[in-house]
Amino acid sequence: MSQRSRLVLAVLVLTVLAMTCVPLLRAQSPELPPGPMQGKVTTACTECHESRIILQQRLSKAAWTKEVDKMIKWGAVVDAADRDGFIEYLSTNFPTDKPPYEAGKTSAEKRKK
Ligand code: HEC
Repeated sequence: MSQRSRLVLAVLVLTVLAMTCVPLLRAQSPELPPGPMQGKVTTACTECHESRIILQQRLSKAAWTKEVDKMIKWGAVVDAADRDGFIEYLSTNFPTDKPPYEAGKTSAEKRKK
Protein backbone atom coordinates (compact mmCIF):
# COMPACT_ATOMS: atom_id res chain seq x y z
CA MET A 1 0.00 0.00 0.00
CA SER A 2 1.38 3.40 -0.88
CA GLN A 3 1.93 5.98 1.78
CA ARG A 4 -0.80 8.11 0.29
CA SER A 5 -3.47 5.43 0.38
CA ARG A 6 -2.49 4.63 3.97
CA LEU A 7 -3.13 8.24 4.83
CA VAL A 8 -6.50 8.19 3.06
CA LEU A 9 -7.42 5.03 4.93
CA ALA A 10 -6.41 6.55 8.26
CA VAL A 11 -8.53 9.64 7.60
CA LEU A 12 -11.48 7.43 6.64
CA VAL A 13 -11.17 5.31 9.77
CA LEU A 14 -10.96 8.39 11.99
CA THR A 15 -14.00 9.96 10.32
CA VAL A 16 -16.09 6.83 10.84
CA LEU A 17 -14.90 6.59 14.45
CA ALA A 18 -15.81 10.21 15.11
CA MET A 19 -19.24 9.75 13.55
CA THR A 20 -20.06 6.74 15.71
CA CYS A 21 -18.67 8.20 18.94
CA VAL A 22 -20.39 11.57 18.94
CA PRO A 23 -23.98 10.24 19.21
CA LEU A 24 -22.83 7.71 21.80
CA LEU A 25 -21.37 10.45 23.98
CA ARG A 26 -24.54 12.50 23.61
CA ALA A 27 -26.71 9.58 24.63
CA GLN A 28 -24.76 9.35 27.86
CA SER A 29 -25.95 12.71 29.07
CA PRO A 30 -29.73 12.34 29.35
CA GLU A 31 -31.99 15.33 28.85
CA LEU A 32 -33.30 17.33 31.76
CA PRO A 33 -37.11 17.25 32.13
CA PRO A 34 -39.15 19.70 30.04
CA GLY A 35 -40.16 23.01 31.58
CA PRO A 36 -39.71 26.72 31.10
CA MET A 37 -36.18 26.61 32.58
CA GLN A 38 -35.01 23.45 30.81
CA GLY A 39 -32.89 25.27 28.24
CA LYS A 40 -31.24 27.66 30.65
CA VAL A 41 -30.54 24.97 33.25
CA THR A 42 -29.09 22.69 30.57
CA THR A 43 -26.80 25.46 29.34
CA ALA A 44 -25.67 26.66 32.77
CA CYS A 45 -25.50 23.33 34.56
CA THR A 46 -24.03 20.87 32.08
CA GLU A 47 -20.98 22.97 31.31
CA CYS A 48 -18.78 21.19 33.84
CA HIS A 49 -20.56 17.88 34.41
CA GLU A 50 -23.21 15.85 32.69
CA SER A 51 -26.91 16.14 33.44
CA ARG A 52 -27.04 12.84 35.29
CA ILE A 53 -25.42 14.37 38.37
CA ILE A 54 -28.57 16.54 38.58
CA LEU A 55 -31.06 13.81 37.56
CA GLN A 56 -29.82 11.62 40.40
CA GLN A 57 -30.44 14.19 43.14
CA ARG A 58 -33.44 14.11 45.46
CA LEU A 59 -33.29 17.33 47.47
CA SER A 60 -35.52 19.67 49.42
CA LYS A 61 -36.01 23.19 48.18
CA ALA A 62 -33.61 24.47 50.84
CA ALA A 63 -30.98 21.99 49.74
CA TRP A 64 -31.47 22.93 46.07
CA THR A 65 -31.03 26.58 47.04
CA LYS A 66 -27.69 25.72 48.65
CA GLU A 67 -26.71 23.57 45.68
CA VAL A 68 -27.47 26.27 43.10
CA ASP A 69 -25.65 28.91 45.17
CA LYS A 70 -22.68 26.58 45.54
CA MET A 71 -22.52 25.98 41.78
CA ILE A 72 -22.77 29.72 41.13
CA LYS A 73 -19.89 30.26 43.53
CA TRP A 74 -17.95 27.60 41.63
CA GLY A 75 -18.56 29.38 38.34
CA ALA A 76 -22.00 28.45 36.97
CA VAL A 77 -23.32 31.33 34.87
CA VAL A 78 -26.81 31.99 36.23
CA ASP A 79 -28.49 35.33 35.71
CA ALA A 80 -29.52 36.78 39.10
CA ALA A 81 -33.06 37.06 37.77
CA ASP A 82 -33.08 33.34 36.94
CA ARG A 83 -31.77 32.02 40.26
CA ASP A 84 -35.23 31.53 41.78
CA GLY A 85 -36.47 29.94 38.57
CA PHE A 86 -33.58 27.47 38.64
CA ILE A 87 -34.34 26.55 42.26
CA GLU A 88 -38.05 26.21 41.50
CA TYR A 89 -37.39 24.03 38.44
CA LEU A 90 -34.92 21.78 40.24
CA SER A 91 -36.92 21.38 43.44
CA THR A 92 -40.11 20.63 41.47
CA ASN A 93 -38.46 18.04 39.25
CA PHE A 94 -36.11 16.46 41.77
CA PRO A 95 -37.83 16.57 45.18
CA THR A 96 -37.03 14.22 48.07
CA ASP A 97 -40.23 12.17 47.56
CA LYS A 98 -39.53 11.30 43.94
CA PRO A 99 -38.53 7.66 43.28
CA PRO A 100 -34.79 7.14 42.77
CA TYR A 101 -33.25 7.79 39.39
CA GLU A 102 -33.19 4.67 37.22
CA ALA A 103 -29.92 4.24 35.44
CA GLY A 104 -30.04 2.40 32.18
CA LYS A 105 -32.78 4.38 30.53
CA THR A 106 -30.45 6.01 28.04
CA SER A 107 -30.37 4.77 24.48
CA ALA A 108 -26.76 3.70 25.01
CA GLU A 109 -27.85 1.38 27.81
CA LYS A 110 -30.80 0.04 25.84
CA ARG A 111 -28.53 -0.85 22.94
CA LYS A 112 -26.55 -3.16 25.21
CA LYS A 113 -29.56 -5.39 25.89
C1 HEC B 1 -17.97 25.71 37.02
C2 HEC B 1 -18.32 24.30 36.87
C3 HEC B 1 -19.72 23.88 37.30
C4 HEC B 1 -20.90 24.36 36.85
C5 HEC B 1 -21.14 25.43 35.79
C6 HEC B 1 -21.94 23.64 37.56
N1 HEC B 1 -21.36 22.71 38.39
FE1 HEC B 1 -22.35 21.36 39.52
N2 HEC B 1 -20.58 20.55 40.13
C7 HEC B 1 -19.33 21.05 39.78
C8 HEC B 1 -18.31 20.25 40.45
C9 HEC B 1 -16.82 20.46 40.33
C10 HEC B 1 -19.01 19.29 41.22
C11 HEC B 1 -18.43 18.26 42.16
C12 HEC B 1 -17.58 17.27 41.47
C13 HEC B 1 -18.31 16.13 40.97
O1 HEC B 1 -18.94 15.44 41.76
O2 HEC B 1 -18.25 15.89 39.73
C14 HEC B 1 -20.42 19.49 40.98
C15 HEC B 1 -21.42 18.73 41.54
C16 HEC B 1 -22.77 18.96 41.40
C17 HEC B 1 -23.82 18.19 42.03
C18 HEC B 1 -23.63 16.96 42.92
C19 HEC B 1 -23.68 17.32 44.36
C20 HEC B 1 -22.49 18.10 44.81
O3 HEC B 1 -22.70 19.19 45.33
O4 HEC B 1 -21.34 17.64 44.65
C21 HEC B 1 -25.01 18.75 41.66
C22 HEC B 1 -26.40 18.35 42.09
C23 HEC B 1 -24.70 19.87 40.79
N3 HEC B 1 -23.34 19.96 40.63
C24 HEC B 1 -25.65 20.70 40.24
C25 HEC B 1 -25.36 21.77 39.41
C26 HEC B 1 -26.36 22.70 38.93
C27 HEC B 1 -27.84 22.63 39.25
C28 HEC B 1 -25.70 23.59 38.15
C29 HEC B 1 -26.30 24.81 37.43
C30 HEC B 1 -26.81 25.84 38.28
C31 HEC B 1 -24.28 23.22 38.14
N4 HEC B 1 -24.12 22.13 38.93
C32 HEC B 1 -23.29 23.89 37.42
C33 HEC B 1 -19.07 22.08 38.92
C34 HEC B 1 -20.01 22.83 38.25
